[in-house]
Amino acid sequence: MASCTGLAITGEMTAKPPSVDLRTAALLAWYDRAGRDLPWRVKSGRAEPYRVWLSEIMLQQTGVEAVKPYFAKFLALWPDVRALAAAEDHAVMTAWAGLGYYARARNLLACARAVADDLDGRFPETEAGLRALPGIGAYTAAAIAAIAFGERAIVIDGNIERVVTRLSAIDTPLPKAKAEIHAVLDGMVPADRPGDFAQGLMDLGATICTPRSPSCLLCPLSEACLARARGQPTAFPVKPAKKRRKQLQGLAFVVLDAQARILLRTRAGKGLLAGMAEVPNVDWSAGAGSLGAAPFQAEWRRLNQPVVHVFTHIDLRMEIAVARLPATAPAPEGMRWVAATTLDAEPVPTLFRKVIEAGLRALR
Ligand code: ADE
Repeated sequence: MASCTGLAITGEMTAKPPSVDLRTAALLAWYDRAGRDLPWRVKSGRAEPYRVWLSEIMLQQTGVEAVKPYFAKFLALWPDVRALAAAEDHAVMTAWAGLGYYARARNLLACARAVADDLDGRFPETEAGLRALPGIGAYTAAAIAAIAFGERAIVIDGNIERVVTRLSAIDTPLPKAKAEIHAVLDGMVPADRPGDFAQGLMDLGATICTPRSPSCLLCPLSEACLARARGQPTAFPVKPAKKRRKQLQGLAFVVLDAQARILLRTRAGKGLLAGMAEVPNVDWSAGAGSLGAAPFQAEWRRLNQPVVHVFTHIDLRMEIAVARLPATAPAPEGMRWVAATTLDAEPVPTLFRKVIEAGLRALR
């Protein structure tokens, strides 16, 4: 047996060396070299919690390119969490209009107010503390804790699920596979760079380990990838059969008065597109609506071309009826006239933006 001289050396030799997973080391080296430069990201160091939180909420269910201009707009309007907490609801919903999943915007504001009012403007630094705030679920809490605060949290989003199920050839269908994915990641997340590790996996999933045609030749994990070794990377993850979306139809009314104003109202505070602005329209159902449901008598003209819009659970075919009012008239109860040129100051979601554009085009 080799003998050691001196206590210090003995201590060093018996201490367990830090075990660096080779896959982790390869991923981090790739991230340093090829990770994307994104506006909310600091590649060597910690990003500001407000920016990390804001970007992670926006990135829930939305792609990076769509988020970039909204992230810039929000930062310009509200540079920190106290500024956002002091904003009017209407201003935040209007700034969010077009990004979709509007419950996120309401929760964003509730969360900003909770942080500003109850936590002295500082985000909690742990996954558990973050999880208690409005709009912050398991994924987002882990992502913020890892990226902004360096906690060794296990981050699992769609891209990471794909990379890990391929890497370890996990053939349990999602979402049941989550526990196995978690276990694999628990063996890989480095204590010193958990945020870079998570973002490296996200970038790998977004740019190389893509759903349909992964670029395995460029992948830093290819040698360790069990799915690749089996010659079938795209067989993972195994997904449950998709549910068919409900097929619904609606009828929307676009009316322009003599002062070039259109009729708007605000949707109910609960449910789809809650609290957003819309033109009057009849309940969405399996059958087409009738002109009898128009907000008032006028010479309504039905357009040939509907607007088609896809929500998570609904395929909507929105028919459009248009009319011109030769004069001005009081708005029906619960509605308001808004100048067509100032619609940008209203929280109009994409569906109704498309409907209004089609209607105004037909009225021109
Ligand atoms: N998707 C969600 N969060 C992300 C991040 N921090 N970087 C890249 N893509 C993401």
